[in-house]
Amino acid sequence: MQTKLERTPDVCCLAFVIQSRFFWYNATKRHHCIMTETQTQHWGNVPEAWTRRHLLGLEGLSAEEITLILDQAERFHAILMQGDRKVPLLAGKTCVCLFFENSTRTKISFVLAARRLGADVVDFSTATSSLGKGETIIDTAKNIEAMQVDAVIIRHSCPGTAKLLAENLQSHVFNAGDGPHEHPTQALLDIMTIRQRFGRVAGLTVALVGDIAHSRTARSNIWGLKTLGAKVILCGPSTLVSKNWEKLGVEVSYSLDNILDRVDVFNLLRIQFERQVVRPFPSTREYAHLYGMDSVRLAKAKPDVLIIAPGPINRGLEVTPDVADGRQSAILEQVTNGVAVRMATLWLGMRKT
Ligand code: NCD
Repeated sequence: MQTKLERTPDVCCLAFVIQSRFFWYNATKRHHCIMTETQTQHWGNVPEAWTRRHLLGLEGLSAEEITLILDQAERFHAILMQGDRKVPLLAGKTCVCLFFENSTRTKISFVLAARRLGADVVDFSTATSSLGKGETIIDTAKNIEAMQVDAVIIRHSCPGTAKLLAENLQSHVFNAGDGPHEHPTQALLDIMTIRQRFGRVAGLTVALVGDIAHSRTARSNIWGLKTLGAKVILCGPSTLVSKNWEKLGVEVSYSLDNILDRVDVFNLLRIQFERQVVRPFPSTREYAHLYGMDSVRLAKAKPDVLIIAPGPINRGLEVTPDVADGRQSAILEQVTNGVAVRMATLWLGMRKT
């Protein structure tokens, strides 16, 4: 049996490849360390103005706090766009995703945001958890926290769940949607997209169209937009938006056609069939006819009108495909901004002890 490698041309070639790979690995590692150090120095400490450990909603946040998140998100967005996918400011931290409702965009972008900040992420599966054996959500969360988790990202169908966890855990809590109540990071990414397009939020007229009654996105948008000085119009059938909403300082309109020419941004909210007890309109065709955004309506709107939607969209119901994929739509930009907004939110909250 041959025990010693002979210096044949093949073996010499292999040795060269291994050596050069080793050199490349070390050089990359050194470069990464330098990047990490400079990036960490560059980012510095969380600004004094940020005092919150959790993000439960936009109600009660000041204009300064919202602007601070948006400005941080822009910095993360710029880094991500340059192709740097890691800014390891939360290296060594662990986040757990507790999602009790379906999600594509919100969950993936929270996971990406945490990983791009260098944190570990654990996914909790409701189907296989002990909740099915009768454990309360607080017990479940406390047991997960006992495994030295730093943050909980929670989505639940019951309003107030995020607040309940924040009151009972030591961990940071980030609300990823609590029933129809609030969805702060969705509103932040909507507002970030609006600010990118217009360079401001104050003075703009934003219409939230559709299923206001069941939409957490609508509530968070109202708080965020009004705090930053925008005018908000809620538009939809009277079964989905009551005049009582005017008490929040917004306008209510039952006709989309009547508001088309004075709106800067249309945020087209999904009809939340899964939350409705009774169907709020006779047919989806009738809804699309009265409240769907199509090219005919778009032609009557302001030339620089912006179309956004939190997603998922029901093509042909809230918006026609040509408008959803058209020049004035920023639906995919919103999704990109979602990662940056969630990075800003996690960083600000988790660095505040
Ligand atoms: C929103 C939600 O879950 O509330 N979507 C999202 O987070 N991407 C809006 C919706 O589901 O219609």
